[in-house]
Amino acid sequence: MVIARRLFPYLFQRVARSTAEICEFDSLENYETSYRRLAWLLGHSKKVPPPGEIDFLHSIQDRGAHPGTIGSHEFLFLTAFASILAPKRAIEIGTLAGFSAAVIAAAIRRQHPDQRRTLVDTIDRNTHSVVEADKPVGFQIPDIIPNFANTVRVHAPADSGIVRELARRDELHFAFIDADHRHPRPLLDLARLAPYVRSGGWIVFHDIQWGTMGRKAVEAGETLRWGASYGAEWLFDHWPFRKISGGNIGAIQLPDDKSALIPFALRLMRLQFEITGKDARRTQLALYQSLFELL
Ligand SMILES: C[S@@+](CC[C@H](N)C(=O)[O-])C[C@H]1O[C@@H](n2cnc3c(N)ncnc32)[C@H](O)[C@@H]1O
Repeated sequence: MVIARRLFPYLFQRVARSTAEICEFDSLENYETSYRRLAWLLGHSKKVPPPGEIDFLHSIQDRGAHPGTIGSHEFLFLTAFASILAPKRAIEIGTLAGFSAAVIAAAIRRQHPDQRRTLVDTIDRNTHSVVEADKPVGFQIPDIIPNFANTVRVHAPADSGIVRELARRDELHFAFIDADHRHPRPLLDLARLAPYVRSGGWIVFHDIQWGTMGRKAVEAGETLRWGASYGAEWLFDHWPFRKISGGNIGAIQLPDDKSALIPFALRLMRLQFEITGKDARRTQLALYQSLFELL
């Protein structure tokens, strides 16, 4: 009741969606050009890819083959984002094989080569890959970054609720969400991360076009192994603050006043949930609790 009473006034605030700036990474050959554009968008117009970054990207080009892992255009976007922002550390929700966690760790390490502490905390609900059940989540990390695999800490089984134990309020500058894409799960992950990401910090989401891509594929007669969900897509589309689209991956920037997320989240929660029953009720309650923390 206390939470409902405090959140109630936010239900009536108008929220207008913003227009995304576009920065797609179409190939490794054009990496530097796209990187410079992204750097300019992020206010670091002098930045260029550090030595070794492009070679590293070449070396892992065919390694993200584990189904469910981000694709090549997407890991270029993710690498450039982490490289330009150069945070000291990052949190990822949704580990799977550990490919994207390793990619983020590698980008951060090139910016802070002497840093010895954990660079990426990655969180997964499952202890083992949902694709290859005999492999623990994160199994690919030592293949991708053999010399500093220990800079990635895997937390499994866990979910975004654990973030409060991993970071201080307003500490983070950068995070990546790529877990359960069913609406409103990505919103819950965002709401749980937001207190720990500073105002003006960025959160990258994978699969911001997945719902539409899936619908089109089904209309074209394809059968989808994983189905397709709109959670990340709706969140990105409705986001009222600054955002940058890189195709099926995109980044949102937290506003100066994080309580401004509340009317946005309440608005998004009016869209049909893609989860049902107890799961939906628990997620809804967890969302209200997390939004309350932003007051
Ligand atoms: C798309 S995969 C992540 C791929 C990974 N980011 C990459 O590109 O290398 C999604 C992962 O999220 C995990 N997951 C699903 N729901 C979750 C939740 N609520 N919290 C944390 N992890 C979750 C799944 O077990 C799965 O490993």
